[in-house]
Amino acid sequence: AIERTFSMIKPDATKRNLTGAIVKIFEENGLRVVASKRVWMSRRQAEGFYAVHKERPFFDELCDFMSSGPTVVQVLEGENAIAKNREVMGATNPADAAEGTIRKLYANSIGENSVHGSDAPETAAEEIAYWFAETEIVG
Ligand code: CMP
Repeated sequence: AIERTFSMIKPDATKRNLTGAIVKIFEENGLRVVASKRVWMSRRQAEGFYAVHKERPFFDELCDFMSSGPTVVQVLEGENAIAKNREVMGATNPADAAEGTIRKLYANSIGENSVHGSDAPETAAEEIAYWFAETEIVG
């Protein structure tokens, strides 16, 4: 089925001017950018977005990093978009990521791992709504 998923190009990647290179990989894999904006999120926005990870030991580091520079937040649309995006991103830890995946190509570390993508339909809907009004999504 045609799905929508939420994607972020993280500060480590925007800093290295990799936005276009990453979007090209999405597009080559059948994912269409139907909403996009560049944001420098506040620490509070990062804490809200990643609230499910509040108790994790890496939460502070994660929120510091995500508010350290620009992020490109996007909605991607396509056939099985949620799973497809996770496939093209590769494993969270770049050391475990398959050849040709975004994280294998570009990620610096498990924390500075260049991209985020929703893991399920419910989280995709929540994460899209966290960053976008319905009127900003143009399919
Ligand atoms: P993401 O898909 O954005 O979801 C949560 C993020 O937490 C994850 O990608 C990683 O970047 C980050 N993360 C997960 N595990 C660790 C860790 N052990 N140390 C630092 N950051 C982590």
